[in-house]
Amino acid sequence: MKKVLFILSTAVIVIACGGGSTEAGKEAAGATAATTGNALSDNPDYQKGLALVAGSDCLTCHKVSEKNIGPAYKDVAAKYENTEANVKMLAARVIKGGSGNWGAIPMTPHPQLKQEDVEQMIKYILLLKN
Ligand code: HEC
Repeated sequence: MKKVLFILSTAVIVIACGGGSTEAGKEAAGATAATTGNALSDNPDYQKGLALVAGSDCLTCHKVSEKNIGPAYKDVAAKYENTEANVKMLAARVIKGGSGNWGAIPMTPHPQLKQEDVEQMIKYILLLKN
């Protein structure tokens, strides 16, 4: 009987400890994600740009982290520094259409979009750096 009790209590301790450390791990991971997540989503450039990108056709060809028909937005952010000049230059490429910078597939022109809206989209994209 003593032996059974011993095995049972050992099992309880193992389960308790195991569960405890997983919870702690989850909390730590959650805290990191929440911190970075908040920093980005609190940024008005991020919020406005994301809304404009989501409201246009961008996401049919672009994903945030994977290459689709067009390059991943994270790769675009890694390639270009977030400067005023780059924002204007990339916005002009989205409006006029671009090709040859990432491969053979061209990006369709977007003449219907306003320069200022596209600049806002680019500001969001350039925030997506890792
Ligand atoms: C029909 C598919 C398609 C659509 C729709 C599209 N793109 Fe692209 N995009 C591409 C391709 C393909 C490239 C790579 C062009 C190249 O190689 O220069 C690209 C490149 C880019 C680049 C990088 C340009 C460079 O010169 O490095 C940005 C920024 C970009 N797209 C933003 C946008 C935004 C913002 C929208 C929505 C308004 C959008 N794209 C819609 C296909 C698309």
